[in-house]
Amino acid sequence: MIPAPDPPLSDGVVTLRPWREGDVDGLVACLDGDEEIVRWLDAVPQPYREAEAHSWVEHASSAWEEGTSAPFAVTDATTGELVGSVGFGWVGDRDQHVGEVGYWMRRDARGRGLTTRAVRLVSEWALSELDCARLQLRADERNLPSQRVAEKAGFTREGVLRSVHFNARQDRRVDFVMFSLLPAELDLPGRIA
Ligand SMILES: CC(C)(COP(=O)(O)OP(=O)(O)OC[C@H]1O[C@@H](n2cnc3c(N)ncnc32)[C@H](O)[C@@H]1OP(=O)(O)O)[C@@H](O)C(=O)NCCC(=O)NCCS
Repeated sequence: MIPAPDPPLSDGVVTLRPWREGDVDGLVACLDGDEEIVRWLDAVPQPYREAEAHSWVEHASSAWEEGTSAPFAVTDATTGELVGSVGFGWVGDRDQHVGEVGYWMRRDARGRGLTTRAVRLVSEWALSELDCARLQLRADERNLPSQRVAEKAGFTREGVLRSVHFNARQDRRVDFVMFSLLPAELDLPGRIA
């Protein structure tokens, strides 16, 4: 299993916590029909209703228990309101100590730096508290906001994985930009505050 951080990861603006049943309505409000979610996250089912949200909460809880991934709800640190999602997951053979991060943000909370904050928190935790030696982040080459988040969170752009994914919803093969962050880079001065 992956133990959930206690106290929860927070920078005073966003707080990350495991998903719970009470998030079902919030998940539907965030994900159902949002055009950016539909465009970039083809693994998120659409339409996205209560059944899909229940399945996600169940999956997220097993993932922590099985130790395969650490899916967090991103909440407003002051009000506790659900604003988005960030997750860490192991990639391939666990013995390789390679992880990956993924995220989305509710439409009306975008553009305020909240995803960057959440990615920094989860990255610092994974690279210092879990035995993660390399943290990856992949973004569709056309998804400029996501690439900007990666850069602002201190990840290094490594290159483009050409035609590595088929997006059935868009019926096109996708190039992913590969970014990574290593433990020794956590306090690089180049990270944007
Ligand atoms: C990608 C996403 C999570 C970013 O969330 P966010 O909370 O707005 O992110 P931040 O505010 O931390 O940073 C966004 C950055 O992208 C920039 N940006 C937004 N639209 C842009 C565009 N069309 N071109 C270039 N940069 C853009 C913003 O200006 C900001 O950078 P800045 O701080 O230098 O101004 C959000 O757009 C989203 O949920 N998208 C749909 C799901 C998704 O794509 N997930 C990632 C899959 S890899």
